[in-house]
Amino acid sequence: MSLYETLRIEQDGAVAVLTIDRPEKRNALSGQVRAELVAALDALRDDGTVRVLVITGAGDRAFVAGADIGEFAERTPLEQRAAMTGRRVFDEVAAYPKPVIAMINGFCLGGGCELALACDVRIAAESARLGQPEINLGIIPGGGGTQRLPRVVGTGQAMRLILSGEIIDAAEALRIGLVDVVHPDAALHERALEFARGMAAKSPVALRMAKSAVRAAAEMPLSAGVQYETELFVTCFASDDRREGVAAFLEKRPASFAGR
Ligand code: COA
Repeated sequence: MSLYETLRIEQDGAVAVLTIDRPEKRNALSGQVRAELVAALDALRDDGTVRVLVITGAGDRAFVAGADIGEFAERTPLEQRAAMTGRRVFDEVAAYPKPVIAMINGFCLGGGCELALACDVRIAAESARLGQPEINLGIIPGGGGTQRLPRVVGTGQAMRLILSGEIIDAAEALRIGLVDVVHPDAALHERALEFARGMAAKSPVALRMAKSAVRAAAEMPLSAGVQYETELFVTCFASDDRREGVAAFLEKRPASFAGR
């Protein structure tokens, strides 16, 4: 029996696929979905058999169609504030010690777009549609979108999307850098999994350090960031995985990384 009501977790080798499973509500992020995602991230954090996570949505219509708008209707501002404090899934994903890939299989709107922005790589189906339509509801993005979107696509494109609420197709999202790769719909699952499996075969130590270093680029001045990179490089250098990676190269064989 699954621990979760709104989430399915399947393991494919060292890749865990987390599927938000409310297709009848276009996988909207209810409080329950957010809490279950945080719990699942906790459960997978120390599981050495899982090296890369993929987040996707159930069904063929949506990745995530945003926050659950139904929950907004009856809430007071204080209740909304309470719902936005504590551990938040967007920040948990961004700071997660393992790579997290967004596999965007349909509408990716509002909080869905913010969830994808918190992920490390965004891989979309050709039919995916993305945007921050909160402005249509008289609100603004509240899951980090006003901060992460400009860091990903630049201030101009972020302003355009957030102020207009315009929804764009996958080709345009690729052009402005909102998604990193686009595949035909029928190939999305296999191609994204193939990509994730390839990543999962790398050194978990190096993956963690690389993610941390690249994340720091958005937070640190250049000189401090370069110094931080040096420290993380030396940490990798001290790992068994570095010894294995270099030895495997010199011995002309595939490396087998233990994650130490
Ligand atoms: N929150 C709550 N329920 C949502 C939802 C959301 N963000 N997005 C979709 N749903 C629900 C609909 O209310 C509908 O429920 P019902 O069957 O009980 O009436 C069901 O999901 C199917 O939605 P529907 O609009 O019929 O599906 P569609 O495939 O034709 O359209 C969307 C999909 C995503 C374009 C459309 O649902 C939509 O615009 N959703 C809201 C997007 C949004 O503004 N997100 C930002 C929120 S801050």
